[in-house]
Amino acid sequence: SIAILDFGSQTSQLIARRVREAQVYCELFPWDAPAEKVLALHPKGFILSGSPASVYESGAPFIPAYVLDSGLPILGICFGMQALTYALGGKVAAATRREYGLAQVESTGDNPLLPPGEHRVWMSHGDRIEQAPPGFISLAHTGNSPVAMMGNLETKRFGVQFHPEVHHTPGGRELLRRFVVEVCGAKPDWTLDSIIRAATDQIRASVGDERVLVAVSGGVDSSVATALVNRAIGDQLTAVFVDHGLLRQGEREQVEAAFRRSLGQRLVVVNAIEDYMDALQGVTDPEQKRRIIGEKFIRIFETEAKKAGSPRFLVQGTIYPDVVESSAPDRSKAQRIKTHHNVGGLPKDMQFTLVEPLRYLFKDEVRAVGEALGLPAELVWRQPFPGPGLAVRCLGDITLERLDTLRAADHIFTSELTAAGLLNRATDEPDGISQAFAVLLPVRSVGVMGDTRTYQETVALRAVTTEDFMTADWARLPYDLLARTANRIVNEVAGVNRVVYDITSKPPATIEWE
Ligand code: XMP
Repeated sequence: SIAILDFGSQTSQLIARRVREAQVYCELFPWDAPAEKVLALHPKGFILSGSPASVYESGAPFIPAYVLDSGLPILGICFGMQALTYALGGKVAAATRREYGLAQVESTGDNPLLPPGEHRVWMSHGDRIEQAPPGFISLAHTGNSPVAMMGNLETKRFGVQFHPEVHHTPGGRELLRRFVVEVCGAKPDWTLDSIIRAATDQIRASVGDERVLVAVSGGVDSSVATALVNRAIGDQLTAVFVDHGLLRQGEREQVEAAFRRSLGQRLVVVNAIEDYMDALQGVTDPEQKRRIIGEKFIRIFETEAKKAGSPRFLVQGTIYPDVVESSAPDRSKAQRIKTHHNVGGLPKDMQFTLVEPLRYLFKDEVRAVGEALGLPAELVWRQPFPGPGLAVRCLGDITLERLDTLRAADHIFTSELTAAGLLNRATDEPDGISQAFAVLLPVRSVGVMGDTRTYQETVALRAVTTEDFMTADWARLPYDLLARTANRIVNEVAGVNRVVYDITSKPPATIEWE
């Protein structure tokens, strides 16, 4: 395995994903994590991430002594390279100007990581290397930087000024693969088979012959976690799926189709539609909607848990990005904008021991595991859907009729996007749409249909591109797709005579309307 030390770059997780794509297991640690914790992984090498810091700043992060003393191969990326240079006695020049964007590097003949010749790379750095440390040679240069890449071939330590982990560096994937596999000698044994085997072994070891409970929501993570646990311990598992009536078109049927055959009667579908409708009647405040939905879920789940014999273990679909401690500026201190409720978001006083089979997996790996376990593509490639469901997209009163209207409009929009090949793609693919949906507004406006005056509600379409859902941009959808969608909604969905497209980014807007 490989240890990646995070010095606060926005792209640290991407480095880890690229290493995993080379089928080498790796973990990401804050740069100042305790040595024992990092070394417990028995890494075959280290990768040092970039950072917004400069090595000359007071209080700047630095390479911990145990890393340099280990004698293991090191690859420093951007700031990581500068820190390596600084630590090993080379010269780093403070930035006079930033180099940002695409650049051409020319690799020299003896570069073991990058074939000789010209390569397009992505640069984003201030400081640069003036003089490589003793024992290091320049392995690539640009017009601006005589040392865009350096290495000490004996000690197997390397630095790159550019970012091999991003899309815009086409040769970057191969560079990282060569470093981890050929230089470090890490075994490329992190394959789907081994991921599934390791996860199922671990589940069996931790739950023994006890009963296990899972709440499936139809989301990717809870579905894949369920499939894994089912593979591991089969008949000890009970899965509870609560239909709160706030699901998208066909969603309940999809979940049942995906799990009924393998789980049989151990899949419990609770029809709680009326229950939720009663509780939500007349409620228009977004936070109150969320509170009611969250509390109701907990009560239903408690009842089902009792019926299933009060299992001690609960499966959660936590994935690696949720658990990595990042060195990037702390977002958790941000003000609470809305209370996010997860289906399965249970209070701490419910006494379960958690089973988290996806805890070390990235989203792409979760999807691949899901496909390997035979889950249908609609489920595995599904876009994120909020726990409170359509309640936060049906602005104003929530009624069965308005929910049906919203479902129909949403289905038209997502089908058009899917037909155009724009939806349900890997998260790091460029131009893919991360999330797209319809919102029903309690705003009536005047229209004309045939010769008749109409006075009906409005549908807003929302489609965004985003890396992490913390910031997002509105998707520049083709006009003809928008036109066709609007036309179909007004013609096919009763009660809607106007369609608008949301062109606000996040911030200042959020992705959902409530
Ligand atoms: P916002 O609207 O905050 O959404 O920009 C960011 C992402 O979070 C999803 N979202 C939720 N997910 N429970 C969830 O599980 C919630 O209450 C919730 N609210 C928003 C939203 O769909 C987007 O992907």
